Amino acid sequence: MATSLLAEPAAGSGLLPVPVSDRNGVLEVLAMRRDPFAFTEVRRACYGDVFGINAFGVRMVTACGAEAARQILVNKDKAFANAPAWSHFIGPFFPRGIMLLDFDEHRHHRRIMQQAFTPDVLRSYYAEMQPVILDRVARFPAGRVLLMERFKELTLDIALEIFLGLELSPAEADRLNKAFIETVRAGVALVRAPVPGGRWWKGLRSRKVLEEFFYAHIAAKRATRTPDLFSVLCHAESDDGHRFTDEDVVNHMIFVLMAAHDTSTITLTQMAYRLAEHPKWQARARSQSMDFGPFIEYDELGELTVLDAVMKESLRLCPPVPAQPRVAVKDTRVLGHYIPEGSMVVIPQMSNHRDETYFTDPNHFDPQRFSPERAEDRGHRMAWMPFGGGVHKCIGLYFGQIEIKAVMHNLLRDFEWFVPAGYRLPMDYSALPVPKDRLPVTLVRR
Ligand code: HEM
Repeated sequence: MATSLLAEPAAGSGLLPVPVSDRNGVLEVLAMRRDPFAFTEVRRACYGDVFGINAFGVRMVTACGAEAARQILVNKDKAFANAPAWSHFIGPFFPRGIMLLDFDEHRHHRRIMQQAFTPDVLRSYYAEMQPVILDRVARFPAGRVLLMERFKELTLDIALEIFLGLELSPAEADRLNKAFIETVRAGVALVRAPVPGGRWWKGLRSRKVLEEFFYAHIAAKRATRTPDLFSVLCHAESDDGHRFTDEDVVNHMIFVLMAAHDTSTITLTQMAYRLAEHPKWQARARSQSMDFGPFIEYDELGELTVLDAVMKESLRLCPPVPAQPRVAVKDTRVLGHYIPEGSMVVIPQMSNHRDETYFTDPNHFDPQRFSPERAEDRGHRMAWMPFGGGVHKCIGLYFGQIEIKAVMHNLLRDFEWFVPAGYRLPMDYSALPVPKDRLPVTLVRR
């Protein structure tokens, strides 16, 4: 492959330059979307752990492996920032979402937002979400079902109930759902300008729909305390007495809904796929769930150890956030390579999760690898990192896990499901990783 250098390190610095493939950027993006694993593997074999490509209109450095992830996310000399990196993809659609803030400002907002994710608040969300889950899962139709569609509706219902605490008509819920989907999809548009009818344009249009919706409800939310995220964010106060402005609440609500909805849907879909592909694991998980009632207590969720291992393994094989971008805000280094100020650097966690250094037979579904005896995820603190790491580590990781486990618990109790022998989930990696066919399964009521 034709190669140039990102930049020459200073003479005597002892640093290595980053090689950059000169291949056409659109071809690179298409190749990456077709098979992100092979894409990274081929370039890693050719260039080493740190290499650049032209993609999405920038020279993008990929830094492979757990140690590179640690150096970037621990961010000891504050060289890597989120805002310029994520803004490149989703900035116009999620302005001032917490993941797009940095350093002191990010810490300040995170302290306030943390109040919406304390153990006590999580318990109250769980109490609200459990009846919704129980009711909706029981009403899943038997027969041939596109399971991802069901999960999408369910996680949206949960989000509306737990995050918004509002009664919406089906038409209004549908309008919000569409707006979210368009807003998220816009971030990875190949045409990065508001051409009417294009992804970017639709994303901007949908952002407006979301803003109008949240501003319309904020006064009522400020007026009374209710057990939903919207209300909690309106009333949350940091230890030093700071609160969010209306604009902050709207920006954070839109971002958090986006962050929570697709990630949970993707994880549920992957778990259901793996359990259909491996009926023995489905039976093992079900047998544990049958030891508890349909209303499983918050504290009992930890006892669903089989489901826990299946969830971890599904998140390893297909992390819903497949890569984490950062921009160097000063000259720095990663694995001894010179990274000049302004460089976009990406952690490819989806490929990292299949690193043979830490995971035996990494392409194989094997929940047992998370058993205390093997603990393959502990080989390096960033070997398994579906929730990211460092100061931006997912704030909803416990929320997401209780929601996912409660849904799967009820699905296992109420149904068995199957895919035809030899079926492989056809993945679309053009935005977040989703199956092109929405996971068709045969759902049989028990
Ligand atoms: C399986 C489910 C989930 C996965 C795999 C996931 C993954 C991630 C990852 C990888 C990041 C870090 C991105 C980066 O550093 O660049 C992140 C951040 C974040 N996630 Fe999640 N997430 C999940 C569920 C949720 C849920 C349910 C919520 C909210 C209830 C949520 C809210 C957030 C927020 C607010 C951030 C930004 C945190 C910050 O910048 O300080 N996530 N998530």
